[in-house]
Amino acid sequence: MDSRTGLPVVGMVGGGQLARMTHQAAIALGQSLRVLALAPDDGAALVAADVQYGDHTDLAALRTFAKGCDVVTFDHEHVPNEHIRALTDEGVKLFPPAEALVHAQDKRVMRERLGELGAPNPAWCPVESPADLIAFGEETGWPVVLKAARGGYDGRGVWMVDDAGQAGELAATLLAGGTPLLVEERVALRRELAVQVARSPFGQVAAYPVVETVQRDGICVEVLAPAPDLPEEQAVAAQQLAIDLATALGVVGLLAVELFDTPSGLVVNELAMRPHNSGHWTIEGARTSQFEQHLRAVLDYPMGDTSLTAPVVVMANVLGGEPGGMSIDERLHHLFADEPGAKVHLYGKQVRPGRKIGHVTVLGNDLDDVRARAARAARRLQEGQ
Ligand SMILES: Nc1ncnc2c1ncn2[C@@H]1O[C@H](COP(=O)(O)OP(=O)(O)O)[C@@H](O)[C@H]1O
Ligand SMILES: [Mg+2]
Repeated sequence: MDSRTGLPVVGMVGGGQLARMTHQAAIALGQSLRVLALAPDDGAALVAADVQYGDHTDLAALRTFAKGCDVVTFDHEHVPNEHIRALTDEGVKLFPPAEALVHAQDKRVMRERLGELGAPNPAWCPVESPADLIAFGEETGWPVVLKAARGGYDGRGVWMVDDAGQAGELAATLLAGGTPLLVEERVALRRELAVQVARSPFGQVAAYPVVETVQRDGICVEVLAPAPDLPEEQAVAAQQLAIDLATALGVVGLLAVELFDTPSGLVVNELAMRPHNSGHWTIEGARTSQFEQHLRAVLDYPMGDTSLTAPVVVMANVLGGEPGGMSIDERLHHLFADEPGAKVHLYGKQVRPGRKIGHVTVLGNDLDDVRARAARAARRLQEGQ
């Protein structure tokens, strides 16, 4: 509790753009997010006043950080689960709880649990040896999708495997390096969807509209809200699935369910329990942003209105372009001149090719128009043209 304001102190482990944008939402609630960052140039460390430095894998650093926080939450899933358990046993309030978060930390644990809960999984199996992977490929048909069970993001940790030869070599190398693996059938997906819900300790849940996420090279580049041409009953079923999962897993805070839209229905890809790239559109596009909603949920406040503020909302990620050419400042100038309605979010990151450095959001009435405007705005920042 902040004795000056009488308002709670939320600590977030991790100082990336998710913490940066959560801090923005905290400000409106009269708070100032406390951040555990790795370095002073982390996106959130650049803007928050209450920053501590330390490694999220260091139990002592986490313990020091948690002192004086009413609740601790996360901007990524890389805090060791046993540290979360240890701190919980010491009386620290951490959300989502360790027992829930493990399903976003370990894709094998997630697949097993989804199976038990009757949620739609692709065919999959754990890979303990190259022979496991080859047998799976021979049985389900190549190509297959090999995944690191832990630690991957933005497609790092996901490999398309075309045949037994490639499978044997890759699995041997990864297993020798100590990477726990699983393999999934390559799903014949028409497109990718995502649905977010927030759940409070009280048990209140609030679902956002289902969105379409467009990926390139394993990275989300565009989000369309609401998902175009999704039959109402499928949208409701996806929201219900996310609500049921949040409740069954005991999630507190946000849950993002990444889905594959296939000819035979929706299949779960993966779960995330934090603000998510598929929800950045909510800052302007929903009555309550995902960042505010996450804070409300972990603080056990009532949930905010999740409805859309416009018929169509499109978010486009801005990736770092090749060095040289126009400065970012000059690019922004052109973007604003070209598209006064675009909302720009830059994360304060140094530009590196392919790195997510920001996003833009455009609201409107016509999907093709809004999508083209968002893409053009992102391109102006990314490529300067
Ligand atoms: N079983 C699968 N079949 C087809 N494509 C897949 C499969 N699993 C993952 N992908 C593709 O790879 C992307 C990244 O996979 P994901 O498991 O979400 O990893 P990450 O943790 O890096 O986001 C997905 O968004 C999808 O485009
Ligand atoms: Mg993913």
